[in-house]
Amino acid sequence: MKLFLDTANIEQIREVAALGILDGVTTNPTLMSKEKGNYRESLKEICDIVRGPVSAEVVAEGSEEMVLQARDLAKISEHIVIKIPLIAEGLKAVRVLSAEDVKTNVTLCFSANQGILAAKAGATYLSPFIGRIDDVGQPGMDLIADLIEIFENYAFATQIIVASVRHPLHVLEAARLGADVVTVPHKVMMQMLKHPLTDVGIEKFNEDWKKVISR
Ligand code: E4P
Repeated sequence: MKLFLDTANIEQIREVAALGILDGVTTNPTLMSKEKGNYRESLKEICDIVRGPVSAEVVAEGSEEMVLQARDLAKISEHIVIKIPLIAEGLKAVRVLSAEDVKTNVTLCFSANQGILAAKAGATYLSPFIGRIDDVGQPGMDLIADLIEIFENYAFATQIIVASVRHPLHVLEAARLGADVVTVPHKVMMQMLKHPLTDVGIEKFNEDWKKVISR
């Protein structure tokens, strides 16, 4: 399973990259709006840190404008992956970009049928938003299970990025289902790392070691 960080915050990306466990980053217009500075320079910096897939989203209604924005974003770095919304115009754009070998991440997926269409269009990645599905009272993780089964049935090459992750249990369930990628907010990444019994254990070992070396 690959672990992506779901943020545009450079400090957070540096911190997790330094752990040696970061495979990629996903951004979106909302995440970019929370950070200061020029978005192209920020994306370049993120790509230089991560040296893996970094998703950057197009904001357009028509496929032609999406393709133009995508080509422009792709010039920033070889690591840029173009995020495209799961609408009819988005599918057309994915088909064009796929033929040009531009990597895509089809986003805002809320149903298995949408996912099938994205895979058929040639998406490199598909991002089902499980937290937002949970938010409206439906089990988001069921969508991941459905998509994994369907993509295996037909050997679709599209990789599933479990997105809109809210807590560590989402990561655990996604891993048990065998999802290709989980994109995790910084807070959840830190929650995955921490365990109170680890801290208590270190404290006890440190105390006991002092007794050993003072003999
Ligand atoms: C990832 O690609 C998405 O942009 C992100 O996970 C959305 O998460 P949210 O539902 O918390 O905004």
